[in-house]
Amino acid sequence: MEQYIIKGGKPLIGEVTISGYKNAALGIIAAAVMTDETVTIENVPDVRDIRVLLQAIGDIGAKVEYVNGDTVKICGGLIQTVDVDFDYVRKIRASYYLVGALLGKYKSSKVALPGGCNIGSRPIDQHIKGFEALGAAVKIEHGLICAEAEELKGAHIYFDCSSVGATINTMLSACLADGLTILENAAKEPHIVDIANFLNSMGANIKGAGTDVIRVKGVPKLHGTEYSIIPDQIEAGTFMFAAAASKGDILIKNVIPKHLEAFTAKLIEIGADVEEFDDAIRVRAEGKLGNTHVKTLIYPGFLTDMQPQMTTLLAVSKGTSVVTESIFENRFKYVDELSRMGASIKVESNTAIIDGVDKLTGAVVSAPDLRGGAALVIAGLMAEGFTIVENVEYIERGYEKFEYKMQQLGADMVKFDSEDTKAIKKFKLKVG
Ligand code: EPZ
Repeated sequence: MEQYIIKGGKPLIGEVTISGYKNAALGIIAAAVMTDETVTIENVPDVRDIRVLLQAIGDIGAKVEYVNGDTVKICGGLIQTVDVDFDYVRKIRASYYLVGALLGKYKSSKVALPGGCNIGSRPIDQHIKGFEALGAAVKIEHGLICAEAEELKGAHIYFDCSSVGATINTMLSACLADGLTILENAAKEPHIVDIANFLNSMGANIKGAGTDVIRVKGVPKLHGTEYSIIPDQIEAGTFMFAAAASKGDILIKNVIPKHLEAFTAKLIEIGADVEEFDDAIRVRAEGKLGNTHVKTLIYPGFLTDMQPQMTTLLAVSKGTSVVTESIFENRFKYVDELSRMGASIKVESNTAIIDGVDKLTGAVVSAPDLRGGAALVIAGLMAEGFTIVENVEYIERGYEKFEYKMQQLGADMVKFDSEDTKAIKKFKLKVG
């Protein structure tokens, strides 16, 4: 089992370049198979969830070719089956975008029910509502979502809650449905806009993405395109919080500052310095930061995917802070691990009450999920002594070259196989 070892206490200083947005890339890769022509996608992050989805489309017959490190060519012209029933697919959430994409193109799909991070119950009723409204019959059978339609017809759909996944999935199918689909109470997150832009570059007709009403006029078919994915707002946010937590000074490059506004506002409120440039952001902090109240909300509110990193920073800030999680009920699992490092946090229902402590101390902790794992790395960077973060495979689902990027900023952080005790000893001797 691989783990990170971190010697805390060093400020992170320097520059880091943000990769493409994993959550946009997942939708875009699924959408890419909706044409028989070749699609070239740039700025594809090299993370586990993306590799799994690329493998899945490859295994149903799509041609997938890496042109260089972050550019992938996909051709869905040779797809032989709509049956995406592979064990490895259950490990990621976004495999369900293949339901919308294949249903749109072939009017039929069978995809293994999604897994992904265990951060809450994560129902898919709104996805099913969308497909059924377009005229599909949807069944859950033998662990598969099976969707089938003679023809898809545009519909007026009012989602019961704002769901990123249901909005994207229904938008995918609606692109190739007959007539106009109107999605109301649609999610507004930046990756919805990116996926809509991508589909439009393939010949789709989508308007209103980024607002809560999206209009999709169905077209008979989509064509090839070249497209570059937007930068990852969560990776950027994680480095912003790592800069503040380590009392460092980082220039974070390849970002869209507008997508980071909720994090910027909170960092400034607690006393960090944030400077925005056209496509970069600089975060600096000195001394103890202050306390605040945070509630996770849908975009443009404070993103649930940044809640663990925020709570971790507040664990060593002055005074008492309150963090409320309103999207996923199970997203405080990392708090027990933080407590083992000396944090004083009480979780009551969906709220964490954080009493800032003077310092954290290194310990062996285990990543419970992707963002909780990233937060534990930030904790390790702040802590006195050595921290071991186990289960790094969760973190690698969504962060490209995480330890390398941290090392470039001066962090004493390496990845080891837990069996390799010699290497671990050597690292400890080297960094003292
Ligand atoms: C997406 O998950 C992201 N995943 C998540 O990022 C992110 O945390 C989440 O959106 C919220 O921003 C991807 O983009 C692949 P939702 P998704 O549907 O689509 C409820 C990360 O760390 N709901 O917007 O699964 C649901 O229970 C990951 O990168 C229903 O009730 O989230 C939740 O309370 C983790 N019925 C709320 O809506 C449904 O059919 C929002 O979920 C669907 C959702």
